[in-house]
Amino acid sequence: MKRLASMPVYAKQFEKVFGDVTIDAVGMAIAAFERVIVTAPSPYDYNEQWRPYQDYEAEDFEDDPELAELYAAAKAGVEAHPMSESAKRGREIFFTEKGNCTACHVGANLADEKYHNIGVGMDKDQPDVGRFAVTKDEADMGAFKTPTIRNVALTAPYMHDGSVATLEEVVEWYDKGGHPSKYLSEKIRPLKLSEQDQADLVEFMKACTGPTPTVETSRLPADG
Ligand code: HEC
Repeated sequence: MKRLASMPVYAKQFEKVFGDVTIDAVGMAIAAFERVIVTAPSPYDYNEQWRPYQDYEAEDFEDDPELAELYAAAKAGVEAHPMSESAKRGREIFFTEKGNCTACHVGANLADEKYHNIGVGMDKDQPDVGRFAVTKDEADMGAFKTPTIRNVALTAPYMHDGSVATLEEVVEWYDKGGHPSKYLSEKIRPLKLSEQDQADLVEFMKACTGPTPTVETSRLPADG
């Protein structure tokens, strides 16, 4: 804080935007920066866009130029950014009862913005109480916010404590049904997936990776 305030360009910009250099203002500035780091579409996104059209031929849209254009764009997207057959099978498992992942990893970011206890760290003597620390509600004991599956291939290790090293091990964890405890979410149960199913799920998650923008840094301007 001291260092920021001592730099004329920051002092001036903070004054202009927030009124003063405060730790909350620093938080807001960082959040504003993070909000513009938007990932470009992944093979998963191109595949979702294509799905409504997949059973049609170009001829089916001959009489509707607008739809024909949408069809052509979706087709070009999926051809340039294909999802492997394994990833497509993984999508089925992820989105259906078989894997039940979308019970929590759902919506545009494949995350429900809610908190669940999936058992991670519950085998410790003093497990992290998670959301309970904030709400004091026993239902939130050991519950953590569902993370996004977008770009998850780039962000190992996994879970709030980094206790799971790879996506393969994450899937093994779910397959076993997590670690039993009285706080375990009802949505977590042994899945009994085959080895192929598990590999397919991992491939699907990898297909949720899109190009992230490069952040260029340069010298601070002399004054803002
Ligand atoms: C009951 C809700 C729920 C279900 C069902 C669920 N997840 Fe999760 N998932 C979570 C929560 C909550 C976390 C974070 C747990 C933690 O940090 O302790 C998580 C973490 C993960 C992570 C780690 C992400 C990271 O950035 O660390 C992956 C990968 C993942 N889940 C994939 C899956 C897959 C694949 C399935 C289906 C087989 C699935 N999840 C089913 C709620 C769920």
